[in-house]
Amino acid sequence: MNILFVCLGNICRSPIAHGLLEKKVRTLRLGWNVDSVGTSNYHEGSPPHRDSVSICASHGLDISHQRSRPIQPSDIQSADLIIVMDASNYQDVGAMCSSDRELAKIKLLLNYVTPGQNRAVPDPYYDGGFDQVYDMIDEATDRLIEELRRSS
Ligand code: 4NP
Repeated sequence: MNILFVCLGNICRSPIAHGLLEKKVRTLRLGWNVDSVGTSNYHEGSPPHRDSVSICASHGLDISHQRSRPIQPSDIQSADLIIVMDASNYQDVGAMCSSDRELAKIKLLLNYVTPGQNRAVPDPYYDGGFDQVYDMIDEATDRLIEELRRSS
């Protein structure tokens, strides 16, 4: 199972999701591959935002080794599940898909918590709130694991 998290910059939200799910997958020995990318190349090569690094570190999770990279068509082909943070990410990834089968891989992260509501993980880059974003992603990745284990 290849799971790809996507946000705009791949420095705030998706690196938290990447690090959290990767840790849970390792703890539970699920054997899934986890990665993250941005829909932009604004921060290509950069580590996660310092506030994402520090909120994760305060929960015992080191994400400082991650580096931002923009999504490529091959990422869509190799992913089984593409999990986006907001509607804008959904649009941008959807525009890169070349079949309904690829489009069907895209899910909004918070729909694992509140199904069908299409809620966004707010972007903390401008407005802050990294602690709330961490908590949302922590809960959503728990629900994601439950759902995937149920359906596998
Ligand atoms: P992210 O946050 O998509 O959660 O990584 C952002 C990071 C950078 C920018 C916007 C959002 N930016 O415009 O540079």
